[in-house]
Amino acid sequence: RAKRPAGAPDRKLARPVTKVGIIGAGLMARQFALLFVRRLQVPVLLTDINQERLDLALAYIHDQIATLKEKGRIGDDEAKRLNALVSTTTNLSDFSDADWVIEAIFEELTAKQDVFADVEKYAPDSAIFATNTSSLSVDAIGSKLLHPERLVGFHFFNPVAVMPLLEVVRASKTDDAALATAMDTAKALQKSAVITTDSPGFVVNRLLARLLGEAMHAIDNGTPLAVIDGGLKPFGLPMTPCELLELVGLKVGAHVLDTHYAAFPDRFYRSDNLHALADHGKLLARDKKGAVTGFDKGAEAIIRGGSSP
Ligand code: 3HC
Repeated sequence: RAKRPAGAPDRKLARPVTKVGIIGAGLMARQFALLFVRRLQVPVLLTDINQERLDLALAYIHDQIATLKEKGRIGDDEAKRLNALVSTTTNLSDFSDADWVIEAIFEELTAKQDVFADVEKYAPDSAIFATNTSSLSVDAIGSKLLHPERLVGFHFFNPVAVMPLLEVVRASKTDDAALATAMDTAKALQKSAVITTDSPGFVVNRLLARLLGEAMHAIDNGTPLAVIDGGLKPFGLPMTPCELLELVGLKVGAHVLDTHYAAFPDRFYRSDNLHALADHGKLLARDKKGAVTGFDKGAEAIIRGGSSP
């Protein structure tokens, strides 16, 4: 009998996913809500702190389903079915029949710990919990759970619809049932899953944080955009570091750099400017077609105003 690869769980332990609960309705959550409903064809329930955020997510999902229909990827009946499978609530008690609950709120440890402790009051005992954290410790996120063994990391990449990779994080307490369910779910979502350990940045962000950190170091030290991004364009990356920073979100980018710097200060760089840019909300100026024309004027003023340690 062939041996299971090291780190891979027995797939027989995987639990069925018949209803998905999603905590958060932001940039990433709304994208993978669409993926869950399309690939798993099960009810998907989103929750967030207020109905306005949920309505924005719902509008995005309906819009994307309409685009899939226009592109001929799905028919009219399927579009209607998918729309009907997505619902929202501001009440966590509605998660009482969710067997897969995934969280994608802002990257703050205590907020994530508290929301999982709350969900555990309502979700079924057999439910598996997943976090889409980019760089926080999955063990730490699960530390207020009564059953931390049910928590697994499940890290998507933006744009979720097109990026084939998914990092499945086995924390020290994650049990085989949670890991097997995560691997089966990744397969059903048609993603290519890699099992990683619970270490800062897992695999991808550890590498990405070097690239983005070096780019921010260069920006902080006065290197023009044409050199940092223009220089890398012909190198063949699908996106330059500054475009990537805007894609993942400047706040998330700043958080990723901070986490890596805190864990490995000799190898990573953190940038105060990036935090100021995140508050400003913009790094790049673009023309009407979306092509980058330079730094945004407000961003440039922030960058020229001071440098980071
Ligand atoms: N949302 C949904 N779909 C999108 C999209 C978006 N934001 N951007 C592009 N797409 C879709 C398009 O609709 C198109 O779909 P179709 O084939 O069905 O028509 C398809 O992707 C290709 O789009 P384009 O023709 O515009 O393709 P490009 O060649 O410009 O590629 C890209 C776009 C795939 C986004 C490419 O630029 C790329 O790979 N960029 C790098 C992205 C990346 O590295 N992401 C990881 C970020 S790190 C992260 O998320 C982790 C976090 O923890 C920090």
